[in-house]
Amino acid sequence: MNEPRIIVALDFDRANHALDLVAQLDPRLCRVKVGKELFTTAGPQLVEQLKNNGFDVFLDLKFHDIPNTVAKACKAAASMGVWMINVHALGGRKMLQAARDALPINTSTTKLIAVTLLTSMDRNDLQDIGLQGETHQIVQRLARLTKDCGLDGIVCSALEAENLRNTIGNDFCLVTPGIRPADGNLDDQKRVATPLQAIKNGADYLVIGRPITQAKDPLLALQKINQEINTPEN
Ligand code: C5P
Repeated sequence: MNEPRIIVALDFDRANHALDLVAQLDPRLCRVKVGKELFTTAGPQLVEQLKNNGFDVFLDLKFHDIPNTVAKACKAAASMGVWMINVHALGGRKMLQAARDALPINTSTTKLIAVTLLTSMDRNDLQDIGLQGETHQIVQRLARLTKDCGLDGIVCSALEAENLRNTIGNDFCLVTPGIRPADGNLDDQKRVATPLQAIKNGADYLVIGRPITQAKDPLLALQKINQEINTPEN
């Protein structure tokens, strides 16, 4: 069986809701993502339970602080045995290098990736904080910086993945949210791609929340998406 490329976003406010959902899923078909809300309420204990149920965990806490603080936070996160963690590339070179040094590439099994720009930010928001230039240029620049600092990859829009893959090469992991099956509801997402489009654009992993978590049959929804991305003639 292929390694799971779908990361199910557990956007729940309580541990039992997340655990009820994962009880319906199969760790051979997906990994799971725990974000700020769920981790703040349920903490390391939930991470442990998810691991005990066989799931790889992406701890999506997007650290952004002075280098020393981020390095220690990364170390603490990795010590929980999670599969992936992330930081903000806007924390800059020293912070990214400190995060990498905290999880040495040849000994750490936790993947370390960075968020470039939040996709919720448009040009006006960027100007407000003094960032000049086109969004895609800033994303490219932050992706390059992330790679230079030795991190394993970035979170990016599936629509940006093709350009990024072409400029940054294959040895860099692209994790893409904003995925919607062709017949799915957009919810609050705007710039979306189908699972297959995202993979064809060069994404390694797809972060998918509501199309699976809110489905009548979450396992069936997950199986269908896996079938779409794993069928060779696609
Ligand atoms: O339910 P949905 O598939 O929209 O969930 C997407 C997940 O990916 C959420 O956890 C959301 O916070 C996260 N995400 C995103 N866009 C980004 C970064 C993260 O949708 N740019």
